[in-house]
Amino acid sequence: MSNDGVNAGRRRFLVAATSVVGAAGAVGAATPFVGSWFPSAKAKAAGAPVKVNIGKVEPGQQMVAEWRGQPVFIVRRTDEILANLGKIHDKMADPESKDSAQPTYVDPQNRSIKPELLVLVGLCTHLGCSPSFRPEVAPADLGADWVGGYFCPCHGSKYDLAGRVYKAQPAPKNLPVPPHSYESDDVIIVGVDQEKA
Ligand code: FES
Repeated sequence: MSNDGVNAGRRRFLVAATSVVGAAGAVGAATPFVGSWFPSAKAKAAGAPVKVNIGKVEPGQQMVAEWRGQPVFIVRRTDEILANLGKIHDKMADPESKDSAQPTYVDPQNRSIKPELLVLVGLCTHLGCSPSFRPEVAPADLGADWVGGYFCPCHGSKYDLAGRVYKAQPAPKNLPVPPHSYESDDVIIVGVDQEKA
């Protein structure tokens, strides 16, 4: 009798234990669904790649995307803009981006994969303000020798249209070029390196 009592007690324990495992299994099985819901917001903040359609960006224009909570400037450069980069080369603090953040697969001077398409993280390397896009040539406030670039409204740092900082500015480095790649002529992926695309 006493053995039966023990066995019955053990059975109850096993049944109870199995139920708990079963319940845990059910929670485990449900987790992936919850997981697939939440992560896009989470992953975005953590730095998931962002696809950007650049098909509507006209020559000389800029569009602004967002990646890792940061503005990303995308400019379709004209032949004139590209020619001007060479003319102001000597006015740049780091003209070949030896001491600035950019992937190895972008050109050191024009700082892009395709010369006409510039992609930059739009945060000043001084204290992180977002520089203004100033593509005009010789506007009154920036002077006769301005050939287009970026002007930081916080402390006046100036960059060219390759994101290279001029000499003697508060900003110490060129605007960073983020990892990026082309999915097609009109779609870039910010956050995925060109080689791995
Ligand atoms: S934050 Fe741009 S110049 Fe200071």
